[in-house]
Amino acid sequence: MNVPLYEKIWMWAAGGIIVAFVATVLITSIGGALQPPSHVETIDPTQVFKDPRFAHPGVAVAPNGATVVSVGMMFAFNPPVIRVPAGTPVTFRMTSADVIHGFSIVGTNANTMLVPGYVSQFTTTFRQPGEYLIVCNEYCGLGHHLMSAKLIVEEAKP
Ligand code: CUA
Repeated sequence: MNVPLYEKIWMWAAGGIIVAFVATVLITSIGGALQPPSHVETIDPTQVFKDPRFAHPGVAVAPNGATVVSVGMMFAFNPPVIRVPAGTPVTFRMTSADVIHGFSIVGTNANTMLVPGYVSQFTTTFRQPGEYLIVCNEYCGLGHHLMSAKLIVEEAKP
């Protein structure tokens, strides 16, 4: 069969693009998206409040940083108000007691999913004191739009 050179170039280019697309899907799904967000730690979602890691949601401030333990559930975050010091690394440890929720602190780089069965964890530092809105950014049911909390970043004590 006589295929002109120009035709051959286009056929190989089209084949190459298909291979690149499939490779992109495989690389991102195997290399990234098949893992729970940020932290591979599991928990029984039906026993969240009996689990010692989440039995007492709240903030613990230590000299080298603060730890926030928070649980998302339909349709609230526990605790509803989080107070942390400015300029200190804050480690968030969170999970969901029912369905998938989001945890996004508006105006900061803090944003994760709360997936039942997994503990989501990240550390960030808030430099700017003030009040920040925390919203759920994963649709979780009829009360999704009501699901919010508040972060208060307090001026570091001198
Ligand atoms: Cu929780 Cu939307």
